[in-house]
Amino acid sequence: MAENRAPRIAGRMDRIQPFYVMKLLARARALEAAGRSIIHMQVGEPDFPTPEPIVAAGRRALAEGRHHYTPATGLPELRRAIAGFYHDRFGLDLAPERVVVTPGSSGALQLLMSVLVDPDQEVLVSDPGYPCNRHFVSLVGGRPVPVPVDAGSDYQITARHIEQLWTEHTRAAMVATPSNPTGTLIGREAMTELAAAVRTRDGALLVDEIYQGLLYDGEAYSALELADDLFVINSFSKFFGMTGWRLGWLVAPEGYVEAIDRLAQNIFLSAPTPAQYAALAAFEPETQAILERRRQTFELRRDYLLPALESLGFRFPAKPRGAFYLYADCSALTDDSFRLAYDLLEQAGVAVTPGLDFGAHRPQQHLRFAYTSDRPKLQQGVTRIAEFLGR
Ligand SMILES: Cc1ncc(COP(=O)(O)O)c(C=O)c1O
Repeated sequence: MAENRAPRIAGRMDRIQPFYVMKLLARARALEAAGRSIIHMQVGEPDFPTPEPIVAAGRRALAEGRHHYTPATGLPELRRAIAGFYHDRFGLDLAPERVVVTPGSSGALQLLMSVLVDPDQEVLVSDPGYPCNRHFVSLVGGRPVPVPVDAGSDYQITARHIEQLWTEHTRAAMVATPSNPTGTLIGREAMTELAAAVRTRDGALLVDEIYQGLLYDGEAYSALELADDLFVINSFSKFFGMTGWRLGWLVAPEGYVEAIDRLAQNIFLSAPTPAQYAALAAFEPETQAILERRRQTFELRRDYLLPALESLGFRFPAKPRGAFYLYADCSALTDDSFRLAYDLLEQAGVAVTPGLDFGAHRPQQHLRFAYTSDRPKLQQGVTRIAEFLGR
């Protein structure tokens, strides 16, 4: 009989952290199971269902038996449709061969890190920023270098950061516009400067555009309009409302596609086939009209929630202009945002995400609010927070 031995987990797992919000979420579920009402302002996915034309296309694919593997780079017609999207939306002529369809943009990030970063090479990531990015770097043996960013640069990495922090070991920089958790953007000019700063250093710039469709101020653009030597990541998850279908894509400079294809063949074989057929309907005018209405709904929610939270003492020194997140400076209310998140859940029945989930730069002064609940629920959440704060 084998003895009960401790599991031998590889050392790299020491650098992979869970989401703190999961702990809060487990507690929220327990409270709900005990009959408490909880307003969820922590959820990082749209509350809307997948648009019906996409679901119908997925259903048809299943009914017609289209559930075998596709090429590792994706269904050729979907790659063409994605290239067509860049043409119609941004006037770009993009070779479909540069588009690789992936299992979520998470799959794209994994592929790119693996193909670009050697062990011990550094990758600049924003802090606060999407927490998985640093873990993707660690997973391939690279070293994530958090770049502390503040409202002064819209919580974004700039060319100036590149000049200051790039070393002989740096391989790449990762940015997201709009960003999670801040909803802030990188403007065209700043992106052009960023791309030039990285190019001068012979590095790779990865631009996460997964919230691109969810923009409320200003004009949407793709970094691909500005340069074709950078890597763009996008997804069907957020704007297209397909989180659970696990489908995303990347656009890479031509010379990298063969290596990406080779690795995708090995680790994914293909992205989910029914999801790929379903996604063909995502660019249809009927679907786009549904998505545009939802974008407007998110915008109205932001326009409600932002001033409502400001009136309670939360501050937003850089305006959130996209995605569905508000990254609130709560330093006027507490010096321990984790405690505040915990108290809001226990005492007010409102679930939010503590800054701790997004990095080490002033996390105790921040909370992330997601407006992925309908307006009445958001209003109820605000009322409960106001009561909790004694306002
Ligand atoms: C900035 C950012 N990038 C990537 C992802 C991964 O999303 P998916 O794998 O569903 O495309 C997320 C999810 O929250 C995100 O916020």
